[in-house]
Amino acid sequence: MSQSRMVMALTGVFALSTLSNAAATGLNSAAKAAGLKYFGSATDNSELTDSAYTAVLDDTNQFGQITPGNTMKWVYTEPSQNSFSYTQGDQIANFAKTNGQLLRCHNLVWYQEAPSWVTSGSWTNASLIAAMQAHITNEVTHYKGQCYAWDVVNEALNDDGTYRQWELYNVIGPAYIPLAFEAAAAADPDVKLYYNDYNIETAGAKATAAQNLVKTIKAYGAKIDGIGLESHFIVGETPSASSQASNMASFTALGVEVAVTELDVRQTLPETSAQDQQQAKDYVSTVQACLQTKNCVGVTVWDFDDKYSWVPSTFSGQGAADLYNSAVQPKPAYTSVLSALNAAATAGSGSSSSAPTTLSTVSASPTSSPSSAPASGTVAEYGQCGGIGYTGPTVCESPYSCHSTNSYYSQCY
Ligand SMILES: *[C@@H]1O[C@H](CO)[C@@H](O)[C@H](O)[C@H]1NC(C)=O
Repeated sequence: MSQSRMVMALTGVFALSTLSNAAATGLNSAAKAAGLKYFGSATDNSELTDSAYTAVLDDTNQFGQITPGNTMKWVYTEPSQNSFSYTQGDQIANFAKTNGQLLRCHNLVWYQEAPSWVTSGSWTNASLIAAMQAHITNEVTHYKGQCYAWDVVNEALNDDGTYRQWELYNVIGPAYIPLAFEAAAAADPDVKLYYNDYNIETAGAKATAAQNLVKTIKAYGAKIDGIGLESHFIVGETPSASSQASNMASFTALGVEVAVTELDVRQTLPETSAQDQQQAKDYVSTVQACLQTKNCVGVTVWDFDDKYSWVPSTFSGQGAADLYNSAVQPKPAYTSVLSALNAAATAGSGSSSSAPTTLSTVSASPTSSPSSAPASGTVAEYGQCGGIGYTGPTVCESPYSCHSTNSYYSQCY
């Protein structure tokens, strides 16, 4: 190596080590620095041709995990009995693989998007168990080695905690749930197996029923590794971080991990800046709960932008539920979530430790700066531009200005 190349290489090392002290500029990078495995998003096949959208979703600085919104569901993958189709599911799996993103595979057994040959077939207990097992075995085998986790059974409970009545429950009884987990584990012993549901994000009849389901599955002798907390919330009605965190702890006490799997926070249309500000706080409550919970592994939003949200077509008059707007530009919720993740990373209180998130553990002070070099240069959009202990540049690139999020973190936007 020539001397000048050696100098360049050393400069590169110096630049890298300097960077590692700076706040992360993307959701996934910040989430990982804070101790989570990933920050992710759902997506769908029709969205992958939108280059403005994929430019963001491709970026592992922002998203380290992908969930297929629809096309791994039963009606897509086995539209008629014993006829399997993985073309669309593979497209999303390959998108994640190309980008080096984790894949949450979703889902194997659900009362919606189940094929009509299942829901209006003529079954005996034994024949329906065999059909369910064949479906699970085929699909889990197909995606073996590609999924971080499988949502094995989705939304099997009513809001009052009773079992939802549909074909599998009506014919097989509650045993269909442990039988599904058993079949998935047999097809891929390494993938994490999850039960996923909504309205189980705070203590109540449904959360208790989901905890009982974990015990039932284990008592049956089957394996369950995780609980997916969907977290479809409403602006101003999102539960507090502490109530979400204590509920997460009720699950992890049973020996399972938890993940926030479908986070969005919808508002009444038209979108207003007041609702956007409240929405930012609401998103942070859920992210904080995950950060405070040992064995909460990650947060997935559903989807990351308002353009492809499921909300307006499902909840009349509501929408604008996501981190980015329909022009794929970040909203206040994005900025606040990133700041919350960076603050947790700085405080060293990510979910890899059981310490509660408390900024008072940070000992950095302005007088103990590790570097006496004057800060120079400008900071790009969403970069850090200030905060206690921060020694980097404080001037934002035009047209952005530096805003204080908390005493430890200011950001350009
Ligand atoms: C169906 O068979 C399974 C497996 O043997 C059993 O656990 C379950 O109770 C049966 N369901 C009914 C309704 O008999």
